Amino acid sequence: MTYTLLKLTHVIGAVLMGAGLIGVWIADLRGRQVEDLPRFSEAVRSIRVFYDGLVFPGALLLLVSGTWMVVTTYGGWSWQFLKIPWLAGMAILFAFEFIEGNSVTRLYFLRLGRLTREALRRGHFTPELKRARESTTTNFTHFLDIPLYLTIVALGTTKPGTWTLFFASSAISVAIAIALTLVVPRLFRWSPMLESPARPSHEGSAA
Ligand code: HEM
Repeated sequence: MTYTLLKLTHVIGAVLMGAGLIGVWIADLRGRQVEDLPRFSEAVRSIRVFYDGLVFPGALLLLVSGTWMVVTTYGGWSWQFLKIPWLAGMAILFAFEFIEGNSVTRLYFLRLGRLTREALRRGHFTPELKRARESTTTNFTHFLDIPLYLTIVALGTTKPGTWTLFFASSAISVAIAIALTLVVPRLFRWSPMLESPARPSHEGSAA
C-alpha cells in the first residue's frame, strides 16, 4: 500500500514537472513573438510562475518519492540501484536536470526578470536585456529540458535492462537541443525589432 502511494506521488510529480516544462516552453516562445515590452514582461513572469509553481514542486515530489522507493525496494542506501541501468539513468538525468535547472536556467530567468523590470522602468528594451535574451548557452540548456525529461519518462515506464536507451535517447536529446538553439531564434523576428526603443504596441508574427 505504501509503495502504491509512493508510485502515485511519483507520477503526480512527473505530471506537475511535465506541465511546468511545457508551460515554460510556451511562455518562452510567446516572449519571442511579442515586440512590446509589457507583453514581453508578462511572458517572462509566466516562465517564473511555471518554474516555481510547477517544475520545482514536481521535482521535489519526484525526488522524495523516488528516493523512498529506491530505499525500500531497490537495494536501500547501498547504491546497489546504480547497477540497474534504467534506474541509475533516471537518477543521473534527474540530478543533471535538477542542478542545471536550479543553477544556469533559474539564475538566467531571475536575471532576465530583473533586466525586464529595469527596462519597464525606463520604458524601452535596454541593450543588457537584448544581450541576455540572445544568450546561446542558456537557450541550449533550456531546450534540453523537455527531451531529457521525456528520456527519463521512457526509462521509468519501459525499464530496459541495458544502457542503450539511456545513451541513445540522451544523444538524440542533445541533437534536438542543438537544432532548436540554432533554429528557434531564426524563426522569430525578435532581435531586429528591439533595435528601436519606442514602438507602437502590436504583436510580431511567428514564422
Ligand atoms: C524528472 C524526474 C523523474 C521522472 C519524470 C520520473 C518518472 C517516472 C515514471 C514515469 C516512472 C514509471 C512509473 C510506473 O511505471 O508506474 C518512474 C518509476 C520509478 N522512478 Fe522515477 N522519475 C523521475 C525521477 C526519479 C528519481 C530521482 C528516482 C530515484 C531517486 C526515481 C525512482 C523511480 C523508481 C524506483 C521507479 C519504479 C517504480 C516502480 O515501477 O516500481 N525516479 N519514474
